[in-house]
Amino acid sequence: MISVAIDGPSGAGKSTLSRKAAEKLGYIYVDTGALYRTVGLKFSRIGADTELNCDINEVLETTQVDLRYVDGAQRVFLDGEDVSDLIRSPEASMMASAVSAKPEVREFLLEMQRKLARENNVLMDGRDIGTVVLPNATVKIYLTASAEARAKRRYEELCEKGVAVTYEDVYNDMIQRDYNDMNRKTAPLKQAPDAVLADTSVNTFEQSLELILKIIKEGLETK
Ligand code: DC
Repeated sequence: MISVAIDGPSGAGKSTLSRKAAEKLGYIYVDTGALYRTVGLKFSRIGADTELNCDINEVLETTQVDLRYVDGAQRVFLDGEDVSDLIRSPEASMMASAVSAKPEVREFLLEMQRKLARENNVLMDGRDIGTVVLPNATVKIYLTASAEARAKRRYEELCEKGVAVTYEDVYNDMIQRDYNDMNRKTAPLKQAPDAVLADTSVNTFEQSLELILKIIKEGLETK
């Protein structure tokens, strides 16, 4: 099986680019951020805040997260309910960042991700795919962009969806999440030594897509 790992900070265009690249290659696209967002939603629903002052394992014992593919698109289910749209709010982003720092949560989601890669050709995006989840991935890419470029993209995305936010809030949330993701003890966001760096700051979507497909093609050729 072929596995492509794409890691990087939020807002670098990872999910849109990964989805499109997977479609072109005929691989299954796995958005692992959606898994953390779904677990974050569960903790919100039981009344936890970002401090997560509760028994994490006890909550996880009664948590069911499933990925399903409907017309080729990934949908994520929490305890049987399709929450794919609910998990996209800024609050859900902060809760996702909080739960993702917990080793229990990372362990809870690990096998699901590895199983998908054992059984399918996958293009998986996240923060620790090349470093922890799939250390033997066929191709690894570290996709990034400047904080300003990433905040601007995320802001426009949220505006299009009708979410009421300001650019400053999106930028500050992004800096905070970058910090959390890069400085947590368990599986922090960092470039794997064998990952190819792709910076999309000044690229159009098409240019970035072309760049990623080129890196994947070259990576596959050398295997
Ligand atoms: O990619 P995203 O914004 O949907 O991710 C949501 C949060 O989940 C983000 O704060 C980082 C975390 N995450 C992670 O720790 N590991 C992954 N493989 C994917 C996401």
